[in-house]
Amino acid sequence: MLWSSFSEKKEATMSLELPALPYDSKALEPYISANTLSFHHGKHHQAYVTNYNNLTKDTPLADQPLEDVIKQIAGDASKIGLFNNGAQVWNHTFFWHSMKPNGGGKPSSELAAKIDADLGGFDKFVADFKTAATTQFGSGWAWLVLDKGKLAVTKTANADTPLVHGQIPLFTVDVWEHAYYLDYQNRRPDFVTAVLDHLANWDFVAQNLAKAKNK
Ligand code: FE2
Repeated sequence: MLWSSFSEKKEATMSLELPALPYDSKALEPYISANTLSFHHGKHHQAYVTNYNNLTKDTPLADQPLEDVIKQIAGDASKIGLFNNGAQVWNHTFFWHSMKPNGGGKPSSELAAKIDADLGGFDKFVADFKTAATTQFGSGWAWLVLDKGKLAVTKTANADTPLVHGQIPLFTVDVWEHAYYLDYQNRRPDFVTAVLDHLANWDFVAQNLAKAKNK
């Protein structure tokens, strides 16, 4: 599935469907195994979709776009379960698109220049991103975001997402144990390094940056 067809879905829908992976489940091997990807997408991501649908069933929220619902209910203690499941649906779809087979390397042109200007160069960005990803205590996410027009590296706990903090997500890595435990056991730093070096989809990041600038 194309990211644009997920993120720009504005028409009313009765329920969410699990978005298809943008590549085959074996496509990220050997860095992420088909076994990990099939559990992560087919079981974990699917469970968030199922829970979201159950929690919105027969409510006015069922007909609203996912992103709108997430923003609308963020911080509402009475809807924390719905927020967690909805945000996890969004975060995971965004994560799948943040990677591609034969990814990694370095971003080109405009994105590279912005990383130089805002984050002190690509190597410093990678080091800062790895620090964010490995120091997130427990479950969560590491992110590259656009914050008030500038790039920033950040991290969120559990299902939390930059979408509800006035930031525009550009790239993410899932650092919940279910993302890497089958392949890397407790070695989260090795998983994060493998994603950055071999799977990161800088074209997707550049597209997100271009789209954010046009908003
Ligand atoms: Fe996950």
